[in-house]
Amino acid sequence: MKFKTKKLFFKPKVKLITLALLFFLQPIITFAQTDEGVSFFPNKSIGFIGILTGLVIIAVVLVLFLVVKLSSNTNYFLDQKSQIQKEKFKKYITNLNESDIEVLKKKRNQNSNRTSFLVLGFLSLVPQIMSAETAPAKREDLFSQPGVLITLVLIFIPLFLALVYLAAKVSTGFKNYVNNQKINEAKEFAAYISETENIPSDADLDEIKNKLEYTIKPNELSGNETASDSKGLLKNISTETNYRFFASKRPPIKRPKIDPELTRLILWYLGTAVFWLFVGSSVGEYVGIKFIVPDADNYSWLSIGRLRAVHTNLVFWAWSTIGIMGLGYYIVPMVSNAPLNSIKNGWKALIAVNSAMFVGAISIMAGINNGGGEYREIIWPIMAVWAYGLLLTVINFIKTIAKRTTHEIYISNWFIVASYIFILIVATIAYIPMGQDGIGETIVQGYYMHQAVGMWFMFSMLGVLYYLLPQQVNKPIYSYSLGVLAFWSQILFYTVIGTHHFVFSALPWWLQTVAIVGSVGMLIPVTSGTINYLMTMKGSWSKISNSYSLPFFFVGIIYYFTGSYQGTAEAFRSTNLIWHFTDFTIAHSHITMYGIITFLLFGSIYAIVPRLTGKEPPQLGVGAHFWLALIGLQFYTIPLMIGGTLKGLMWAEGKPFIDSVVLMGPYWLWRAIGGTLMWLSHIVLAYNMYKMMRPSTDIDVKEKAFEIINQDLEANSVEPKI
Ligand code: HEM
Ligand code: HEM
Repeated sequence: MKFKTKKLFFKPKVKLITLALLFFLQPIITFAQTDEGVSFFPNKSIGFIGILTGLVIIAVVLVLFLVVKLSSNTNYFLDQKSQIQKEKFKKYITNLNESDIEVLKKKRNQNSNRTSFLVLGFLSLVPQIMSAETAPAKREDLFSQPGVLITLVLIFIPLFLALVYLAAKVSTGFKNYVNNQKINEAKEFAAYISETENIPSDADLDEIKNKLEYTIKPNELSGNETASDSKGLLKNISTETNYRFFASKRPPIKRPKIDPELTRLILWYLGTAVFWLFVGSSVGEYVGIKFIVPDADNYSWLSIGRLRAVHTNLVFWAWSTIGIMGLGYYIVPMVSNAPLNSIKNGWKALIAVNSAMFVGAISIMAGINNGGGEYREIIWPIMAVWAYGLLLTVINFIKTIAKRTTHEIYISNWFIVASYIFILIVATIAYIPMGQDGIGETIVQGYYMHQAVGMWFMFSMLGVLYYLLPQQVNKPIYSYSLGVLAFWSQILFYTVIGTHHFVFSALPWWLQTVAIVGSVGMLIPVTSGTINYLMTMKGSWSKISNSYSLPFFFVGIIYYFTGSYQGTAEAFRSTNLIWHFTDFTIAHSHITMYGIITFLLFGSIYAIVPRLTGKEPPQLGVGAHFWLALIGLQFYTIPLMIGGTLKGLMWAEGKPFIDSVVLMGPYWLWRAIGGTLMWLSHIVLAYNMYKMMRPSTDIDVKEKAFEIINQDLEANSVEPKI
């Protein structure tokens, strides 16, 4: 499609958008002009100004997005207008389906937003007023004052929200306009096709029908003959694809047998999980920024010590946990071939875990916590509510499995139920103070941390993969026995490796050795699991490009292998001596919790949600999500691994601690850049979720035209409706 820039620019809406752009860019340009050497980023205010600039950039990106969207929609119409209408209608006729043909045959027999822009205009005046009132000479002092900064932030927030609101309004207005145009076109097409002379002859219609019904014989396309398409085999080759560079994705097929109530429940689990991912990673992003700009703020609620715990608890116990629960509610009844035991208890559990996380996050920020134990900072009464949600769920699952109509309990259900039992026991032990004095607390801490990641997140996601991977590649799992080996060997080894977090600590030497040996033993389940998954995918690699979920699964499996081998490498005394206490561990945490768990969750969401709602995610959106997350993760982890190793070696040489902090500066900057990309990918995911879940407003011209003809037929005939 041609881009008709000139015409586009003179459109009033685009002019207003340009005005809006100017409104947001002007302050940057105005303030960026240096005055007597005064910098745009005076030392103390860099944090706030940085955030403001970030928000402005987001706003600009939003506006640009809108402009691109407007221009592509406008192009659509310019292009449409330039085509001869009849040609287009004829094209519709060559793409009829069987019911359309029936309607046409019957027809032959019978014949015998507005959106307001005033706000935008007003907004465009504001920069002038602002600039007029700014005294350049005093800018440095002014921007160092917290009061001014806070006022600016407070002014900016409503403006930013107003812009987002406006963008949404413009987008909906334009969509309505497009849809009205389509309805008009459908009416014209219906009128055109209602004329007897425009309806193809019965013979032609029968020919199209034959083409539709035709199936190819095994030897049909052999030989040297030129292809004549009398059988309609090439009908799917279309010049009207949206994105010609990408393989088209396999459309989802809605699963009719899932109870709509259960569908609603699962969508709520997955929806709230994505919400927590956004909140949790926004906090992580801010903590990452604080590593570069430590004095970005000085509020106790936003101190690194508190926000770090908010981040880890939200991504663990809210995003990953609620996501895993949602997947369980889909998979357990599905592989048991039985309805969920109690949907009501499913809702109770959802409310319990969500409210616990909400109160938990606020309490950590307020300074109410459980002390230093990592991942168990939230106080026990709140975590008890969370655990109640998990208990209700596992009882629900066990009762559902008990009612199964299949003979065997499928391997996924083994993994899923076992993981709930493990995490409930592990959390109970971690929260009961018994035996947790002195070194005992350290032992419990190591046990708790690693059981949580290994026997809850990893174990349950392996179970999910045993169901979704074969389903997505449409063939059975490569080896059930390898699955069973992975199940038992993971239980054997993972449960004894907790103390590898505290190598060289005051813990008994033999206990550390057991953990190190167990860490090596972990290579058995990891290798057998990886082989099983990759062999299941073998021969179906081409399916990766036309699936929404398989690319995420593939990345998750590769990280499962590499991340776990990396973990084994970290457990040895010689390596732990260098890497422990450094950012290398942070890289490992994200390679595993993000590269494995989060990527598998992403893939599972794209596999399940379209089956529940029957709506595809936007293809470009899924691509953007995938690449932003993957590239972001590389920028996050690789610099931290390099920086962490150099830092460890520096300490080994006895260099001053502060030198290692200076050394890490650039690596932390890269982490913040990578984190930003990951964070952006979560916004795209939220948008994709919305697209998969919202009621459809798009109109298909051909479908609409046949709906009109059908209504007409119905009104004028006594025959039953088809
Ligand atoms: C935008 C995405 C994210 C960013 C920018 C981010 C950033 C951070 C930062 C800055 C830290 C503190 C590191 C330190 O103390 O040195 C951290 C810790 C951590 N994050 Fe993230 N994070 C993100 C997403 C996630 C996700 C999705 C998960 C898990 C599902 C996760 C799991 C963790 C864990 C486990 C830690 C503790 C690491 C350790 O102590 O070894 N993060 N993150
Ligand atoms: C063969 C499997 C694995 C082994 C042997 C292993 C080993 C290790 C070791 C030795 C550490 C401690 C590093 C240190 O503090 O010096 C560690 C940290 C960590 N691992 Fe793994 N790992 C494995 C797989 C995983 C998986 C699958 C996940 C997540 C799903 C994971 C998540 C983490 C996290 C979050 C930490 C940081 C804990 C903290 O806050 O200190 N690991 N791992």
